[in-house]
Amino acid sequence: MSAETIKLPETPMPSTQAESHRLAAAGLTAGYDARTVLRELDLQIPEGSFTVIMGPNACGKSTLLRSLARLIKPASGEVLLDGAAITSIPTKQLARTIGLLPQSSVAPEGITAADLVSRGRHPHQSLLKRWGREDEAAVREALEVTGTSALATRPVDELSGGQRQRVWIAMALAQQTPILLLDEPTTYLDIAHQIEVLQLCTQLQAQGRTLVAVLHDLNQALRYATHLVAMRDGEIIAQGAPEQIGTPELVQEVFGVAARIIEDPETGRPLVIPKAPPLPE
Ligand SMILES: Nc1ncnc2c1ncn2[C@@H]1O[C@H](COP(=O)(O)OP(=O)(O)OP(=O)(O)O)[C@@H](O)[C@H]1O
Ligand SMILES: [Mg+2]
Repeated sequence: MSAETIKLPETPMPSTQAESHRLAAAGLTAGYDARTVLRELDLQIPEGSFTVIMGPNACGKSTLLRSLARLIKPASGEVLLDGAAITSIPTKQLARTIGLLPQSSVAPEGITAADLVSRGRHPHQSLLKRWGREDEAAVREALEVTGTSALATRPVDELSGGQRQRVWIAMALAQQTPILLLDEPTTYLDIAHQIEVLQLCTQLQAQGRTLVAVLHDLNQALRYATHLVAMRDGEIIAQGAPEQIGTPELVQEVFGVAARIIEDPETGRPLVIPKAPPLPE
């Protein structure tokens, strides 16, 4: 096993709060200045699920994730955490409950991987509770499970795309939130690291966390998700179990792609095979 291989944790990563954490959107309309992206969207993230959001480029997936993390203020409607408007929750408490891996982030110039991951611990600190052993352990574990321990002292801006992506995932993990939102966590990763990140998600879910990830690889979404949400033009077209969602009709409706579905020989779940035009003679 190379130093960069992701090691799945044997012991559960401690979750900061044991109580329930239900995330939902009700009549959510949100966007940017004059551009409305999400229109009266209703969504309930099943607690303890590994929910995957899929849909074409620019359909509003990142806007939805950012709204769920309160980075975007809705024009109307609201995001609810355990039934309470997310706007009423103190910032640090929210940051201890919901973690977000954004689609693209730029690290402060020259910052090392370990320092960046340590920033995930900020919500856990206060005047009375300075950096301590728990923070140290959380950072070490996040680096370990993402296979980035060997990169700890390297400046993030000198890392490869895939290494950098795993350091950002480590930062989100170090936050140890019961809800984790991951916007395209497998971007830049080779197939082995993609599978490891998805298995890590499954493992975190098995430990009781709620995960919401945007994925572009339909077959990975169908294989790993416990709940799938299909979006198009700022709306939710369908949601449900992978077996319900993985149909040729849905792939056609959401992506405009003709495909057939076969049974994944590994998992029995749907596997999307896009139809190919006949090869030229
Ligand atoms: N900061 C912004 N300011 C203005 N418009 C934005 C901003 N970010 C995104 N948009 C627009 O909002 C729409 C939805 O973008 P969003 O990033 O949510 O799409 P997405 O589904 O995540 O797409 P992708 O698969 O390409 O990541 C797009 O038309 C995009 O151009
Ligand atoms: Mg996006």
